[in-house]
Amino acid sequence: MKYEFCCPTLFGLEGIVGDELRHNGGLEDVRVENGRVLFSGDEQTLVWANLWLRCAERVLIKVGEFPARTFEELFEGVYELPWLDYIEADCAFPVKGYALSSRLHSIPDCQSIVKKAIVKSLSESYGVTWFEETGPRCQVQFAIMNDIATLYLDTSGAGLHKRGYRANANEAPLRETLAAAMVHVSRYRGRGAFLDPFCGSGTISIEAAMIAMNRAPGLMRSFDAEKWNFIDPEIWRQERERALDVIYRDRIYDITGSDIDPACVELSAANAKKAGVDHTVQFLQQDAGKLDLRRREGTLICNPPYGERLMDVASARKLLRSFGMTAFRSPMKQYIISSDEKFEEFFGVKADKKRKLYNGMIRCNLFMYYQPPEKRRRWRTVGSHGIGRGTPDSRKRTGDYRK
Ligand SMILES: C[S@@+](CC[C@H](N)C(=O)[O-])C[C@H]1O[C@@H](n2cnc3c(N)ncnc32)[C@H](O)[C@@H]1O
Repeated sequence: MKYEFCCPTLFGLEGIVGDELRHNGGLEDVRVENGRVLFSGDEQTLVWANLWLRCAERVLIKVGEFPARTFEELFEGVYELPWLDYIEADCAFPVKGYALSSRLHSIPDCQSIVKKAIVKSLSESYGVTWFEETGPRCQVQFAIMNDIATLYLDTSGAGLHKRGYRANANEAPLRETLAAAMVHVSRYRGRGAFLDPFCGSGTISIEAAMIAMNRAPGLMRSFDAEKWNFIDPEIWRQERERALDVIYRDRIYDITGSDIDPACVELSAANAKKAGVDHTVQFLQQDAGKLDLRRREGTLICNPPYGERLMDVASARKLLRSFGMTAFRSPMKQYIISSDEKFEEFFGVKADKKRKLYNGMIRCNLFMYYQPPEKRRRWRTVGSHGIGRGTPDSRKRTGDYRK
């Protein structure tokens, strides 16, 4: 059967998910929109997308779409959709959703109407008036935008960022989908050295190791759609077996994560073990401010403390300044995510390129440095030696970006 799929993504990652679907999944009909990517395919596509997409939040089946300006239209539209094709008599079918720029805006009311309409539709088909809902979960989602309602079924269950290796995290972990996206942007695929000097719970290094080893991110977890009768369990079995077959098990990698906190080093090592990449990545206790990176080649990706969830802003900036001193002279390609608007000022180097990304609700930039050290541009603070003084604009006016 042919399905329309929708993958919601973190803002800023839509294009990357589009690339994953086209290049890794071999799909042609891929449409990238704000906050989501649409594509079509069959049951095998559904299984592949859940097992292999590294940067999408979940995989939804689009059940239908119709105008919904009133509760009556919403009820009738939902009632007409082919729920019997998906939901068995014993399935649990909770409903959630959102409405934006629409006449219907009360989420609890819409939720209850959608539920009633599905119950009515299924009651007539199954000849019962009460559903126990004790079987497999078929999470129903609605989105009402500009008076158009779209109904989905969530095939993933828990979000795809939940790979199953990070039961424990430090206080400010990066979402796995975002960490994988940063590795994707850096083009690190297992060649050369890789370093995350602020590893926390190890997310970035573990995602880098999984990408290097060609290990499917969903291998260690289950998905709601695995229990759905209309998807042949043999497809899940075959796709999982194929994913195990294509792992590069005998290659050697140089992937390191380090952190000043010994508890983080221990946590990262435990998470890497759960992820099945502990032989690929090492974790060390090290102060990033004291690293000597002058002769280190390869790729560096990290999210240093922002001063929002860990540390205060002044300490985070002070650390950034000492780390920037060593990073400036390093030939390593560097990709650093930060929510600090003045990141470049305190890091001391103007980024070659920036990309806007969201770490949960926190608006960030990915600062990218891929030019060799001699081409890097120092960010000098005019007439100021202190943290937090001077503005980028005043420096622009004095033309003080130095090569
Ligand atoms: C924002 S967290 C990193 C989270 C990590 N990416 C993850 O997904 O779990 C920042 C980390 O920097 C570490 N840190 C703080 N000061 C440091 C320093 N001077 N050197 C190295 N690590 C430091 C903290 O212990 C914390 O784990």
